[in-house]
Amino acid sequence: MVSSISRPVPQLQCESDFGIETLPLSQEASFGSWQREIPEAYWQLGSDELVTRVREARASLGDRAVILGHHYQREDIIQFADERGDSFMLAQYAAERPESEYIVFCGVHFMAEAADILSAAHQQVVLPNMEAGCSMADMAAPADVHVAWRELGDLFGSTEDLIPVTYMNSAASLKAFCGEHGGVVCTSSNAVKVLEWAFEQGKRVFFFPDQHLGRNTGHAMGIPLEEMTLWNWRLPAGNLGGAAPEQLERSRVILWQGHCSVHQRFTTTQIEEARERHPDVQIVVHPECRYDIVQAADAIGSTAYIANYVAEAPAGSVIGVGTEINLVSRLAKENPDKTVFCLDPVVCPCSTMYRVHPAYLAWVMESLAAGHVVNQIVVPEEVQAHARIALERMLALR
Ligand code: 13P
Ligand code: SF4
Repeated sequence: MVSSISRPVPQLQCESDFGIETLPLSQEASFGSWQREIPEAYWQLGSDELVTRVREARASLGDRAVILGHHYQREDIIQFADERGDSFMLAQYAAERPESEYIVFCGVHFMAEAADILSAAHQQVVLPNMEAGCSMADMAAPADVHVAWRELGDLFGSTEDLIPVTYMNSAASLKAFCGEHGGVVCTSSNAVKVLEWAFEQGKRVFFFPDQHLGRNTGHAMGIPLEEMTLWNWRLPAGNLGGAAPEQLERSRVILWQGHCSVHQRFTTTQIEEARERHPDVQIVVHPECRYDIVQAADAIGSTAYIANYVAEAPAGSVIGVGTEINLVSRLAKENPDKTVFCLDPVVCPCSTMYRVHPAYLAWVMESLAAGHVVNQIVVPEEVQAHARIALERMLALR
């Protein structure tokens, strides 16, 4: 069977669909909102030249630098990754390999922060484009979480039985908040294990920022939907996040109203259409998708789980995938004996992962080779100490 991926219909393409093939920075429609202080010399360079320059810089650095790449990175970046993986595996890697002086993290800001917290003191973590953030992580501002925590504490009489659990996709200061308040970090690959641990520590879980991962995980553990309540952080303080006090009293999980804009695009109609087109299709989706999508899928898991699921499927399998397009396209290419397609025919790449353009990688690698560290991610020591506790609690739950 021939490998295929759905291609966007031209009139419905999103801006960044045009850029999966690397264009010079100067021609990238979104460059205006990316990190601007990259030297102008890099702005006009095309893909081939950038790839050659990264290769040369990397050769001259040898083992002094390791490049980590998240599965959502584009091909011109992922080809350089010494380790590619999901957010859990990359955090684990940073925690366990003190050999390299520099960890060049091709992913987004919260991942590089976790690497800085977990890596050894002599290692420096570099994020090629400082504007590579995560819109979901940005939905949980520490000040809003602190307000919610206070309001919940007032309602319940104390926060003693309330365990804060933050998804890896959050600011380091929220990981520190969890470390300081008896909580923990989770990723999409270990959320059940982490919530099980949390329920051994207390009666309720306060889960942020991704409502969907929280709800899907709670449901997988047998918690009824009525015992999981949404906290609308957009409401002014004093409103209990829009929830009724008795509803919160009944709740076992309080879900921050955050989401991933990429995974919110998947619909049950897409799954129904895929099943009509291919009666034997297997549907695998990321747990950041909405509850109804996860219920309609055959398998659910992190980006690494999805990659393994496709790799291990028998030849001839037809697999519809609900996750970011760079990973889906790569899986289609790497598994030519299977039909692998993205459920959303007009899906945009993750626009923040996409900001790690090869020009930035060339710039940071050439700077390191010349002896200058640029774009270093440094989490302040007072934040690190508590955030490390929450991350290490997670890493210990094998
Ligand atoms: P993974 O933990 O599955 O790699 O996912 C990270 C992410 O940001 C998904 O949107
Ligand atoms: Fe954040 Fe969604 Fe991008 Fe993941 S895919 S980094 S959750 S915006």
